[in-house]
Amino acid sequence: MSASHPATPRTTAVVLAGGTGQRVGLSIPKQLLKIAGKAVIEHTLTAFEQADAVDDVIVLMAPGFVPDVERIVAKAGLTKVRRVIEGGASRNETTERAIAALGADAAPGEDVNVLFHDAVRPLLSQRVIRDCVDALARYRAVDVAIPSADTIVVTRTHGEDGEFITDVPDRSRLRRGQTPQAFKLSTIRRAYELAAGDPNFQATDDCSVVLRYLPDVPIHVVAGDEYNMKVTQPVDVFIADKLFQLASTAAPAQAGEDAYRELLAGRTLIVFGGSYGIGADVAALARGYGARVYALGRSTTGTHVENPEHVDDALSRAYTETGRIDYVINTAGLLRIGRLAETDNSTILEALHVNYLAPVQIARAAYKYLAETQGQLLLYTSSSYTRGRAEYSLYSSTKAAMVNLTQALADEWAADGIRVNCVNPERTATPMRTRAFGTEPAGSLLSSEAVARTSLDVLLSELTGHVVDVRRQDPTRGAGEASGFEQALAAVLDRQNAV
Ligand code: CTP
Repeated sequence: MSASHPATPRTTAVVLAGGTGQRVGLSIPKQLLKIAGKAVIEHTLTAFEQADAVDDVIVLMAPGFVPDVERIVAKAGLTKVRRVIEGGASRNETTERAIAALGADAAPGEDVNVLFHDAVRPLLSQRVIRDCVDALARYRAVDVAIPSADTIVVTRTHGEDGEFITDVPDRSRLRRGQTPQAFKLSTIRRAYELAAGDPNFQATDDCSVVLRYLPDVPIHVVAGDEYNMKVTQPVDVFIADKLFQLASTAAPAQAGEDAYRELLAGRTLIVFGGSYGIGADVAALARGYGARVYALGRSTTGTHVENPEHVDDALSRAYTETGRIDYVINTAGLLRIGRLAETDNSTILEALHVNYLAPVQIARAAYKYLAETQGQLLLYTSSSYTRGRAEYSLYSSTKAAMVNLTQALADEWAADGIRVNCVNPERTATPMRTRAFGTEPAGSLLSSEAVARTSLDVLLSELTGHVVDVRRQDPTRGAGEASGFEQALAAVLDRQNAV
């Protein structure tokens, strides 16, 4: 029985991770390589963990590395992973082993759905998974493919003279095959049984096995997406890392006002930079839900974030008064525009102190308190963090540092249960911005209340090590209507105009 639809058969995802990744050329299999803070295979397994239509997962791992996967599964709490076993010498042999393992588990007469997926395609979307499972309601074999932007040529090698074109197939009919490849278990098993009798059997995927040995079975094609790339060559590691950076993480909203109240009542929240703007709005919102909030700022409490003593005093006073510190956030920031060569030393130092040294000091001072509550440190970056711009060198580069600091501390403090995240607001209506740019058209800016709301959602989430983007809603679209690709494109465009 499926977890989501009682009427649909059980669906198992098979993660093929038996390869060693010679083309990437590292000493460990590429599926264990860390991209965006997590092993490639953990990203892949997480996609299936989150898929309502998938009931369980089996992993076929490169020999000798099964314990590595088991550790990842345990640490990440991936409850759908049922078994981790060794893969075979070729990809098809790995699939065969999976079929054998599935056969041993299946109830008699049960024809389950199986989704074979390359472990090294970590950017698999929920949409593609859903479309594959839905298609299995009508078809016994399903592939995932995307159109080819490149013209594909067929060549033949003529000895020492090299390659020559023999054919240029019509590009409009060509597709690039991805995974998952999804089947009724009985169908793929039969195809492999027939292949076993063929001494010339050779294939690099599973649909071609069905096509060759069960030619009467139609193989339906589901649209894949450009994101669903296979990490194959060294350059792919960099591309995948960038794509993860773009794929925006959303913090789940709580079910209602009562849920916020329940989670925040009696918690202590420290807001550095809390005198105005986003900091003041987070403080007000959290206070409204019953949190004990210390909103600290230069102009209100005389707290200078760049002064470590001020930071220490503020934290220790809050701790003495409330007995705990659950959340520490720092929204203080300085936006100084100008050419670096023409900037005087005191302006440089001030920007570095407030935008970089202060968050570092705040983080260090907050550590012992947050370790006690398994709390969270929340920092803020700017949408210019991925690309510096002329005249914003101090602002862009110190804000980029916040992302790296977030990732580093999330990793360093994971064992203590402390979460560290970073909010990346699109251009926001704040006094800091008005001082720098004057009054801007009302509709072009995000409200600081919206950023405050997202900040609270991040504080209350399980996320750690993430950059959470906050963007203006396009009023012509419903929530969540934009595809991952459109969102990423919007983010890229955003960052080009950023600050
Ligand atoms: N795969 C597998 N068993 C094998 C070979 C490959 O399960 N014996 C899996 C890989 O782990 C990967 C997917 O099939 O998730 C696609 O393989 P690919 O990246 O093409 O091959 P690798 O063998 O991993 O890499 P390379 O060819 O560069 O050595």
